[in-house]
Amino acid sequence: MEHLTTKHRLKAFALIAAASLMLSSCYKDNEEDLYPDNNCNTTNVSFSATVWPAINNNCVSCHSGAGASAGIRLGNYNEVVAAVDGGRFLGAIKHENGFSAMPQGAAKLSDCAISQIDAWIAQGKLNN
Ligand code: HEC
Repeated sequence: MEHLTTKHRLKAFALIAAASLMLSSCYKDNEEDLYPDNNCNTTNVSFSATVWPAINNNCVSCHSGAGASAGIRLGNYNEVVAAVDGGRFLGAIKHENGFSAMPQGAAKLSDCAISQIDAWIAQGKLNN
């Protein structure tokens, strides 16, 4: 009987130790690391509300009009679609190997903005 009780105590202790280890590791993980896109809405991404502001603020200064860099114009919906279809757009904003990293000379777009643009393309590049 004595033996059993000790065994039970050990078992209970081991369980509590394991549980508190798990709890403390959960406590230390921060939510953003666990769910990086927690606050990033990629459902039914709107061109006018989401994609266009990112491009207008970060790309249009160099990519519009007659002197557009690399001949790539991003000044309106049709030009953005043409650039995406041209095949150099996503690789450039994702800074993939073999592409010039865009926006040139400035910080990479946020992970969320890139995911949203990616989603907008996957959702059919709607003029929405
Ligand atoms: C400061 C000016 C500048 C800004 C801002 C800029 N670009 Fe560029 N972009 C360039 C220049 C110059 C080139 C051509 C030279 C090169 O490829 O490095 C280029 C090339 C590109 C290319 C072709 C890349 C390739 O590898 O073929 C794409 C696509 C592109 N830009 C898209 C964008 C997008 C999208 C943004 C905004 C997120 C942006 N650019 C912002 C100057 C700029």
